[in-house]
Amino acid sequence: MARVRVEPLGVELEVEPGESLIEAAWRLGYHWPTTCFGQAECMLCRVDVVAGEEQTVPAEAAEETAVRTRLPASARRPGLRLACRLRIRGDGVVVRKAGVVGPSPDAR
Ligand code: FES
Repeated sequence: MARVRVEPLGVELEVEPGESLIEAAWRLGYHWPTTCFGQAECMLCRVDVVAGEEQTVPAEAAEETAVRTRLPASARRPGLRLACRLRIRGDGVVVRKAGVVGPSPDAR
C-alpha cells in the first residue's frame, strides 16, 4: 500500500498494489471528476504529479496514446497522468487535482 497526497484538498489516499489512483479514491468514498468511469476516454480524471514521480508506474502506451489523441497540445505537459491509469509504487507521490471531494460522513 502506498500513500498519495491529493492537493488542494489536502488528503492522503492509501492506494493498494495494482489499484489505480481513481479506483482507490472511489473505494474510499471520494468523488473524482470523470464521465467515462475509468475507460481512458474523458480525460477529466487527469492529474498533475507534482512530487514523487519516481514512485509512480510509468504510463503504458494506451495511456500515452489516449492523452496524445484526446487532449489538445496546449493541455499536455510533463507530469500529466490519468488517475484511471496511474499506479503507485511507494509513498511520497503528490498530485494536484481540482474537483476531488471527500467522502460524506455517512460513507466513512
Ligand atoms: S476516468 Fe475518464 S479518462 Fe480517466
